Amino acid sequence: MTEAVVYISNTGFTRQYADLLSKKLSLKEYSFEEAKKALPKGSRVIFLSWIRKGRVEGYKKAAARFGLDCVVGVGMSIEGMEVAEGFRSQTKMGDEPFFYVQGGFDFSRLTGMNRFIMKQFRDVMVPRMEGRTDLDEAQMNMLKMFRDGGNAVSIDRLSPVVEWYRNREE
Ligand SMILES: Cc1cc2nc3c(=O)[nH]c(=O)nc-3n(C[C@H](O)[C@H](O)[C@H](O)COP(=O)(O)O)c2cc1C
Repeated sequence: MTEAVVYISNTGFTRQYADLLSKKLSLKEYSFEEAKKALPKGSRVIFLSWIRKGRVEGYKKAAARFGLDCVVGVGMSIEGMEVAEGFRSQTKMGDEPFFYVQGGFDFSRLTGMNRFIMKQFRDVMVPRMEGRTDLDEAQMNMLKMFRDGGNAVSIDRLSPVVEWYRNREE
């Protein structure tokens, strides 16, 4: 039985998803730091975290501490099977179900190394992409996110997770 929703969030988008999911499934919700105090080791949880350089941030420590019933990764890229499979393999996950959902991007909330990395990325990507007419949907999304920021968080994006949970509980 899943005991809680546990999340790691840097700028708040993953936390928004954790809020939506825990309410929808009537589960308790903890940040990873709270969960370490509140839940016994090995508790079964749904783990949500943000994507950093192609990997689910904190996956290893979460998997070492808790039983992960499923993992939800939150990034700025648009959803897609290939994108999700890429994140899964780069994170070197176990065989638990993995779902990828689009979160958002807010440069103003980034600090330290994370800000530095994204500033470099943005300063290279935006001039290179602006004005091009041949960008595909994923590239257009990336350009818009880097240039304007954005929040794509919505309960609808969690539908596959909710469906998986309900079918599994039956
Ligand atoms: C250093 C850094 C690397 C990132 N790498 C990726 C990435 O590889 N793929 C992606 O889709 N998003 C990437 N992102 C974007 C975040 O995953 C996205 O903004 C996410 O919604 C952040 O969630 P949070 O608000 O819970 O921290 C990166 C962000 C930062 C700061």
